[in-house]
Amino acid sequence: MKFYVLTLFPDMILRGLNTSILGRAAEKKIISIDAVNIRDYTADRHGKADDYPYGGGAGMLIQAQPVYDAHKAVTGGRKLRTIYVTPQGVPFTQKIAQELSRLEELVFLCGHYEGIDQRVLEEVATDYISIGDYVLTGGELPAMVMIDAISRLVPGVLHNDSSSESESFFNDLLEYPQYSRPRVWHGREVPAVLLLGDHKKIAEWRRERSEEFTKSRRPDLYKEYIRKEELIRWLSREKREKIHMIESLRRGKAEILYADRGNVLLYDRTSRLCMISAQNAETGERLLEKVPKDASLFVTSQDFLNEPICNRFSCEIFHECIQVCYPQKQALPVKYKDIRLLGEEFIPYVRERYHMGDSEYVAERIRAGAMYGAFCDEKPVGFIGIHNDGSLGMLFVEETHRRKGLGISLESYAINRICEKGWTPYGHVVTGNETSLGLQERLGLYPSSGTIWWLGKKD
Ligand code: ADE
Repeated sequence: MKFYVLTLFPDMILRGLNTSILGRAAEKKIISIDAVNIRDYTADRHGKADDYPYGGGAGMLIQAQPVYDAHKAVTGGRKLRTIYVTPQGVPFTQKIAQELSRLEELVFLCGHYEGIDQRVLEEVATDYISIGDYVLTGGELPAMVMIDAISRLVPGVLHNDSSSESESFFNDLLEYPQYSRPRVWHGREVPAVLLLGDHKKIAEWRRERSEEFTKSRRPDLYKEYIRKEELIRWLSREKREKIHMIESLRRGKAEILYADRGNVLLYDRTSRLCMISAQNAETGERLLEKVPKDASLFVTSQDFLNEPICNRFSCEIFHECIQVCYPQKQALPVKYKDIRLLGEEFIPYVRERYHMGDSEYVAERIRAGAMYGAFCDEKPVGFIGIHNDGSLGMLFVEETHRRKGLGISLESYAINRICEKGWTPYGHVVTGNETSLGLQERLGLYPSSGTIWWLGKKD
């Protein structure tokens, strides 16, 4: 992943980020950090890049021209995500870090002194992000904080296979306490449960401690956590029909925009996907009023919602599906032996064979560590993936390897990986695709009795 930082103090960025884990990741070329001096692009004869603000006030502003030219030099006219770091932005979160870590290139724009001329921000900035409700002397430290948080999610940076898809089971809660040797220190013993090797008990203990910590230290987070748990419990009364909502919540993908039992509106900001369930047409209309402006995809499980969505948001129905889910916990046997996570080098291979969505979609899924490939003599012969909404899909097997059970092996492999994370695997089968439904049922996935619809903007 490539970071470009537009700043008046490039040394500060380079010195701050080239040691330890990020330094090693840069040496291995997993990430690169290019700090660009805005001053190098000024048209002013004396090298000035700042001036007094119109209307008066303390301090100096960075002018529009050098910022614009520095940005243009970096992007070469391409439309790159450009973060203006500012205390007036939205708060930076792990979720935002996760989303940004899947990009190939990212630009940071750092203000100093009093900030940057608004007109150039309107032309180049795509996001305004803050690291907290306090004011620093410049955007360099916030940019470094964000680059650190994003980089550690880039596959390969942390020396393990954990990808940005593998959010911890303790989602939404603060981390539990950890202990190392010696077993007794200053008369304090390591909690006995951690010494006995019972992983189920250890997981329970850690969750309890996480809940305790969160409740006392971050009551705001705890309140949200309880609200979510209650909604999941309520949705689980119709698990097969509502599995898409349950899993989006559990995996920390969707936020609750509205929930009063029978009327639920969830929003997955990363994929701009709204999931809606209403008691009747009238309450459904009221939910639609709360849909965010940038929503571009909708999933409904009630027919009466489809027409209002089409009319209100200029959408059409893309697919009519039934949901299938795998509620068991035990791993499935995988006959085909050489199946593994796909790396970036297979982006062109998958792109040639999978055509749904835009061409960036496949690259984004592979970078998210969400696609697996089957190999024969080191050559890929099929793949499967997890869509950005969390459902299983994108199954493909080369003609030469069909009718040998490879599809079953690929799907079993993906199901096992999802179960390992403590999640419930699920997928969407287009109504009438009896072959796919047969495959799902053979693997032990249960179909929903109702239909769900995918709707999207007409273009
Ligand atoms: N620039 C100055 N203060 C900041 C903050 N809190 N977050 C992001 N950018 C900043």
